Amino acid sequence: MVAQVIDGKAFAANVRAQVADQVAKLKEENGITPGLAVVLVGEDPASQVYVRSKGKQTVEVGMNSYEHKLDAETSEEDLLALIDKLNNDPAVHGILVQLPLPKHLNEDLVINSIDPAKDVDGFHISNVGLLGTGQKSMVPCTPLGCLMMLRDHHGSLSGMDAVVIGRSNIVGKPMAQLLLGDSCTVTVAHSRTKDLPDVVRRADIVVAAVGRPEMVPGDWIKEGATVIDVGINRIERDGKNKLVGDVDYASAAERAGAITPVPGGVGPMTIACLLANTLTACCRANSRPEPEGLTA
Ligand code: GUN
Repeated sequence: MVAQVIDGKAFAANVRAQVADQVAKLKEENGITPGLAVVLVGEDPASQVYVRSKGKQTVEVGMNSYEHKLDAETSEEDLLALIDKLNNDPAVHGILVQLPLPKHLNEDLVINSIDPAKDVDGFHISNVGLLGTGQKSMVPCTPLGCLMMLRDHHGSLSGMDAVVIGRSNIVGKPMAQLLLGDSCTVTVAHSRTKDLPDVVRRADIVVAAVGRPEMVPGDWIKEGATVIDVGINRIERDGKNKLVGDVDYASAAERAGAITPVPGGVGPMTIACLLANTLTACCRANSRPEPEGLTA
């Protein structure tokens, strides 16, 4: 079998177009412009790239973007004061504090100081609990993007065997909750899992989110399975820098029914879903109907 390639770049462009459409309607009918505040502490180069990209795409869909760049030595008190200000600013519907934070800042404390209704990352403990109990929440962006692509490809996911490789709070755990919410039988595998190849071989859906370059070879993939590769790993091969996923793409594509490439798969969906979450937060804050197809 030669896998269908799931084009995340095109999918993300479509999500952004839907968001832009809804933003235009909100402005026209209600005079409301959704606003996203992004807080960056320090000068981590990868974080700077992400934040720039987020700001650009926020403006492109017609939302207001508020960037707060603080120096690496910012005290916890000052950061919490800024978050409090954003929590109370009616023009701000979404707040994202870029991670990782410098070591002297308590990440859990900072994230849990964001108003859960504005927590467009879905990392606040209230949102984690709401998602885990099947209640309306803000859903972490990367797993939401994976879910959208899976639903688009399969329609219903009900009864499918899914394995999530990786148990991070940002991807693995919320992904498992979302798949369970769509009535999959879910296995969460990790570094201590016994017989990982056999576990993966049983799965109709494989979501790989471990951050280890090409650790899933094609012969672990069940014929016809759908493979969602969340990994973005920079490696050197033949003297060149290359981005690869957690799945060995070439061999997996020979067995899978559908697969996301790296780059151009899950990656572009993360920011698209951040914009979707900001729109959702804005609609909820203003008692407007939520955008269809853009939430879990
Ligand atoms: N750093 C890397 N990915 C993310 C993300 O999705 N959200 C935040 N806040 N920080 C990140």
